[in-house]
Amino acid sequence: MKTLHRTIVIATAAILFGGASSSIAVANPARDDIIKSFATQAEMPFSAERGKALFEAKPGGGKPETPSCTTCHGTSPLKAGQTRAGKLIEPMAVSKTSGRFTELKKVRKWFRRNCKSVMGRECTPQEKGDFLTYMSSK
Ligand code: HEC
Repeated sequence: MKTLHRTIVIATAAILFGGASSSIAVANPARDDIIKSFATQAEMPFSAERGKALFEAKPGGGKPETPSCTTCHGTSPLKAGQTRAGKLIEPMAVSKTSGRFTELKKVRKWFRRNCKSVMGRECTPQEKGDFLTYMSSK
């Protein structure tokens, strides 16, 4: 039943967005489910603007060599970033890297690791949802 539902959602999305310009971010049911799972624990509706601010902030509290998300992901979500070791990181914007934020395990793992590196703590469900909303709008 769930698979059938998914198929209908995908088919509907394909009809709705199929002919639209490629600048419109591609909807993905797995990503939507992940964002929804954070929404149940968040106090406010998610905001792409707050997500952008989080992405660009230098909050302090983390490791001195990684002051910001942009240290590795680069200042534009539309462009590739690189790890401290110089390995390429595909753009975070879902319009550029369509597989972004579609695997819960991967999303959890990297939020945990990267938020600790940058802020010295885990991101809250609110911050995670804001961040994913921003990247989904890009
Ligand atoms: C030390 C380098 C580094 C910093 C700093 C960093 N990231 Fe990342 N991030 C990575 C790498 C490497 C990956 C995994 C490779 C990939 O997904 O392309 C990743 C992946 C992710 C993912 C999973 C992407 C997916 O497709 O599921 C999320 C979410 C994420 N980062 C969020 C953040 C946030 C939020 C910050 C700032 C608080 C941040 N990152 C800061 C290196 C970094």
